[in-house]
Amino acid sequence: MLRTVNCGSLTLKQLGEEVTLAGWVQKTRNKGFMLWVDLRDRYGITQIIFDEERSSKEVMHKAQKLGREFVIQIQGKVIERVSKNPNILTGEIEILAHSVEILNPAKTPPFTIENVTDGGEELRMQYRYLDIRRNPVRENLVFRSKVSLAVRNFLSAHDFIDVETPYLIKSTPEGARDFVVPSRMNQGQFYALPQSPQTFKQLLMVGGMDKYFQIVKCFRDEDLRADRQPEFTQIDCEMTFVEQEDILIQFEGLLTHLLQEIKGVKVDKFPRITYAEAMKKYGNDKPDIRFGMEFSELNALAKGKGFNVFDQQELIVGIAVPQAASYTRKQIDTLIDWVKRPQIGATGLVWVKCNPDGSYKSSVDKFYDEKTLASWAEATGAKAGDLILVMGGDTHSTRTQLSALRMELAEQLGLRNPNEFAPLWVVDFPLLEWEEESKRYLAMHHPFTAPKPEQIQLLENNPGEVAANAYDLVLNGNEIGGGSIRIHDAEIQKKMFDLLGFTPEEAQAQFGFLMEAFQYGAPPHGGIALGLDRLVAILGGQESIRDFIAFPKNNSGRDLMIDAPSKIDQTQLDELNLNLKQN
Ligand code: AMO
Repeated sequence: MLRTVNCGSLTLKQLGEEVTLAGWVQKTRNKGFMLWVDLRDRYGITQIIFDEERSSKEVMHKAQKLGREFVIQIQGKVIERVSKNPNILTGEIEILAHSVEILNPAKTPPFTIENVTDGGEELRMQYRYLDIRRNPVRENLVFRSKVSLAVRNFLSAHDFIDVETPYLIKSTPEGARDFVVPSRMNQGQFYALPQSPQTFKQLLMVGGMDKYFQIVKCFRDEDLRADRQPEFTQIDCEMTFVEQEDILIQFEGLLTHLLQEIKGVKVDKFPRITYAEAMKKYGNDKPDIRFGMEFSELNALAKGKGFNVFDQQELIVGIAVPQAASYTRKQIDTLIDWVKRPQIGATGLVWVKCNPDGSYKSSVDKFYDEKTLASWAEATGAKAGDLILVMGGDTHSTRTQLSALRMELAEQLGLRNPNEFAPLWVVDFPLLEWEEESKRYLAMHHPFTAPKPEQIQLLENNPGEVAANAYDLVLNGNEIGGGSIRIHDAEIQKKMFDLLGFTPEEAQAQFGFLMEAFQYGAPPHGGIALGLDRLVAILGGQESIRDFIAFPKNNSGRDLMIDAPSKIDQTQLDELNLNLKQN
């Protein structure tokens, strides 16, 4: 080894020992006759001292030439520091160097490699290997490794078998577009990269594997956001001879274990709410339940009182913002402007101040008397000192808009405490959703999800009403997992493809292998997939997954470091028989 110890381990216990260290020069302080270097590696920082009186001339000379991010090896003796740094483990000692070797010099990095950097996000992505040297990014990757090991240990201890499934497959519809890969040996034909290993894990159950898991890359060509990457990692699981309840209990166990093991947090409540209830109470199917501000529908109390704007609307809904009656006109106007931004798209916001003295003041005093405003306060649970915000419009958009406002206010009021963890299950999702543009049903989860058995007969005449045995695991306002009990009956699966608009021929061509498998003794089965990137980010107290991925892509799906995607050689195109014109 080029070192005897790492940069994060020496303390007064090793006083007087001769050591060899290797690492990167974080910074140097040069007083001419004395020079200090902060030497960094994955484990920490150790201070090195070069001293005219105690180090040789040659060593002093070499030390003067060290620059930021040089890779060096030093030998020296552990001595006690004069000015100690209580914030780091190695803060009581320094190494008096008697030799220094430059293993590799470095160009000046394009941004400072310190906890707080001057580098913008794009620059840091372009030089990600430098960014990874910074504590926060490195710590996130170490944290991810710890979470993923804990997941592996837990699932292995519960008899789940890790099986790898192929990446070059045929498209599995999960609602996004596929990334496709042309085949050289089968010209004109394409593989698709899996959006998830969904059909394979089901076939493993037909194959009798009983309990499967895989920490696996999935690929989806969809619009990107803070919590979405085109390639991401799932903790993908499937179980045989189970009902929905068994899966919920098993994965409550996993999350409870992770929270305990990784965060030292004990969580014993996993509330369950139906999709319909989640939409009604939070306007959202992934509610953050760490704080209140639940929705109250005010149709009966707000319509028919002469306020035209509300009279026309399908839904009038309000929330009580705690302790916000003191908001100034300007603060309220800012909120109104916020909801009117095109990203939110609301037409306006009605407000009611519940004054501490029990009186009310609102933006609609002309139409509603105090008694009516008091009834709104009662319905929304607003107390004296709170502010009621009310929106009206069509049900879906109004709920979505108010939900966005609820989250924004919670953020502003500091109600989203990253050290508090509030998981819940959202259950009873609809099996299908109607898509107006294409005038057809889409699978809400995916086409392999089973309807609730008691509602199967509705599939014939009223498919839109059928609920699915499907569930999402939500943590702090983020969907961290989703799954379902699957169809294992070839006839029901055929019916499902039919409802989704596949002709029998199309269904056969795309999923013949699955329907055939179902004729060879397919057991009842079901499963779930958790988004590892999201889970790790939330456990790490953040919501953007990028900083928990070693080499992430930007919002246009580009890897700025390797500059991908990129053009390929004409010879490669010719071999694949792709007659693309590249310019
Ligand atoms: P689903 O599509 O709900 O289910 O995905 C499971 C979980 O994966 C995470 N996730 C993502 N994370 C980052 N970037 C993305 N683009 C992205 N897309 C999804 C989410 C999500 O909850 N085959 C089914 C699972 C099953 O039925 O067992 C599936 O993939 O956290």
